[in-house]
Parts: sequence; C-alpha cells; structure tokens
Amino acid sequence: MSKTVTGFSKLSKEEKINWLANNFFSNVKEGIATLKQYQNQNEKLQQLHDEFIENTISNFYVPYAIAPNFIINNKAYTIPMAIEESSVVAAASLVAKFWSSKGGFMANVISTTKVGQVHFMYSGDFDDLKKYFTKTKDQLIDSTNDITANMRKRGGGILDIELRDKTIKLDNYYQLHVTFETADSMGANFINSCLEAIAEKFRTDNLNSVRQDIKIVMSILSNYVPECLVRAEVSCDVSDFFTENPTYYAQKFVEAVQIANIEPYRAVTHNKGIMNGIDAVVLATGNDFRAVAAGAHAYAAKSGTYKSLTNAKIENGKFYFWIEIPLSLGTVGGLTKLHPLAKLSLEILQNPSAKELMQIIAVAGLAQNFAALKALTTTGIQQGHMKMHLVNILNQLEANLHEKKIISSQLENKTVSHNTVAKALHQLRIEN
Ligand code: MEV
Repeated sequence: MSKTVTGFSKLSKEEKINWLANNFFSNVKEGIATLKQYQNQNEKLQQLHDEFIENTISNFYVPYAIAPNFIINNKAYTIPMAIEESSVVAAASLVAKFWSSKGGFMANVISTTKVGQVHFMYSGDFDDLKKYFTKTKDQLIDSTNDITANMRKRGGGILDIELRDKTIKLDNYYQLHVTFETADSMGANFINSCLEAIAEKFRTDNLNSVRQDIKIVMSILSNYVPECLVRAEVSCDVSDFFTENPTYYAQKFVEAVQIANIEPYRAVTHNKGIMNGIDAVVLATGNDFRAVAAGAHAYAAKSGTYKSLTNAKIENGKFYFWIEIPLSLGTVGGLTKLHPLAKLSLEILQNPSAKELMQIIAVAGLAQNFAALKALTTTGIQQGHMKMHLVNILNQLEANLHEKKIISSQLENKTVSHNTVAKALHQLRIEN
C-alpha cells in the first residue's frame, strides 16, 4: 500500500477512511470503529460538520462546559468554554465566585479598529506614487462600494486608507494600510474582499501614470489588532484579598505579575494561562482562536520585549488587577450562527454584541490568570491541577466508578503522580 495518494478529496468518506485504515491503523477494524463512533448519527448535522473543512472523516470532541456566576459590569453571566485542559473551568468558576462577592469584574472596550494591508513593490519616484495615491484614494474606497454596502448599514466600513513607505526596511516596499470598522462581525472575509478590490483598482486604474511600476505582492488582513482593544479589571481592599495574611499574599501576587513583566520565560507561561481562559470562550463561540492568540502574543511583545498581558498594583490599601488585550471577535457571520453549539454559546451569553463579547472574553482571561497566580503564590499549582488530572489518570488506568471514588478520597490533599495513582489502584485491586 502506498502512503501517498492522488485525488483523495474526490473519494467518498468511506473510501477515505478505508485508505487511511489500511495504510496507518495497527488494528483496522478498531480504528474504523473509533472514527465511526465519533461521527454524528444525525446525518444533517454530520454533513454540516463535514462541510466546514475538506477531507472530514470524523469529529474530534473537546469538552464543552460552563462557568457560572461571573459578574461583569454588574450583569451576571454564565460563560461557555470549550477546552480539554482539566483545571481551566474549575478555576474560572472559583474565581467568578470569589470576585462576585467583591463587586465583580469591570470591563470596557477601548477601540474597535481592524487593519488590512495591500503589500506592493514600486520602483519609481515616491512623489509620483504619492500624487497618484492622493488622486485615486476616493476611487479606491468607491471600488468597494458593493462589498461594503451592508456593513455600512450596520455602522461599519472602511475608515481610512494610508500610503505607507516601508523602503527603509525593504527596498521598493510600500503598503496601502487600510483601517476598518466591522461592527458585530470579525470581518476577515469582508476585509480581505475589500483589500482585493482596492488592490485591483490601484493596479489597473486608467489615470494611473505609475501603474506599470506597481507590483501587488498580496492583500490580506492583519491579525495584529492593537487598536481593537479591551480592558477588564478587578479591585478590592487588600484586607479582603485573602483570609490569612492578606497584605503578604497580595504583595506576592503583585510581585508575580512584575516578574512576568520583566522575564520573558515567565511571561510566556503567564500569558499561556490567560489564553487558557480566552481560547476556551473564543472556541465555544465559534470565533477564530488562532487569530486571537497570534494578536494577543504580538501585543504582549509590542514594546520589543515579550511581557505580561496583565498588570497588578497595590495603592492606598487597595489591590488592583487588570488586563488589556486586543481581541478581534464576531457575534455574527463565520461559524457563530452556523455551528449549533457556537450559536447556543452566544445564547448562553445573552446574545452579546461583539463589544460585549470582547469584555466577557477579556474577563475570562483575567480570571484564569488570577486563579493561576493565586495558586502559584500560595499552595503551588500542582495541588489543584493534579486533583483534576487525577480523573484523567484514573481513566487512563481504566478504573471503574467505585475505584475512582475510593482512590480520589484516598489521595485527597496528597500530591498525585501517575505512579502514586497506579500504585494505589494496584493495591486496591489486590485488596478486593
Ligand atoms: C497551565 O496551563 C497554565 C499555568 O502554567 C499558567 C501560569 O503558570 O501562570 C498554570
């Protein structure tokens, strides 16, 4: 059997699975059964998922959970999360409860501008290019009128086009730097369609005395959205921060954030924890978590050094903790209404606008970071983590319900490892 194949996408699903199974599965029957087990019996629903991407052979499940009791801007939210990591939802729920007794989270959207660029090479005179751009700028915008009609009705559209000279960094390189407002949609397709129309007009305009010198390299949105920014924060009296020795622990917490601000090795892990919360809600609402992650990490490095996305301080006896993060999200378009669970997630969130969703998701990130730092600066992370992970280990070891219950109570408040669980289970099985 050959491990390469031509015309694969033209094969039926059955044929694709058979090719795969015969080439790669150690147990063909079992492998096929596993794939089929994860296919939805509802044919229409399965077809919907099949058509999201090419060559679909099954579905890959990720747990879908909710974290209730979030108070954001004095409104109660239950936050849906899609994530495989054991401790994330538990942490979110605990933190939601902790802050709900202290006035909850406050959040506000700072800006909502998105960016796309037409990247081009031009070897002629810059003044000629500038003149041509100034003369045709309105027409460039007009060339997108059909595409932007609906968006303009919703209060969005193209905000501006700038000609940017980048030749200091790369010979002959210029950009049309286009800014957009995309209202409640993430706007990726909208932005890319506008950019392609603008590029085409720019390249082919009849008045264009310099057009033979322009070579369009590409037209694409940017996932770096530092001006699509949201802030979320919590604050409380230091005395309310922790039951024992609150000043000591609040100070330690602030120091943990300061460390992430100056030490990239720590900052990456610190921000990864934030993204645990953010990605889970981004995914559950049918948004593009890769785009959000790329934009967030780039923002964390905007000063030239990779830093924490959160900040904390103690001032006049009060503890403050906040996040500022770029989030490009949609509550219409894309998968948001197409994926039944994404649609339901938005309903659980009381059908938020994109701005409201930015606030909710920033809070999910801040909450997750709060949980991680609180654990790290007090008991350490493993106690809570391993408690949740214990269930995964027990499942790996194929423990039954009764065994899970006994081992979980035996190992309560103990540091668990795969080895300790295996030993405890072995002992239990000998004794019974
Ligand atoms: C684990 O997924 C995330 C943490 O490592 C985050 C952190 O260290 O801040 C716990």
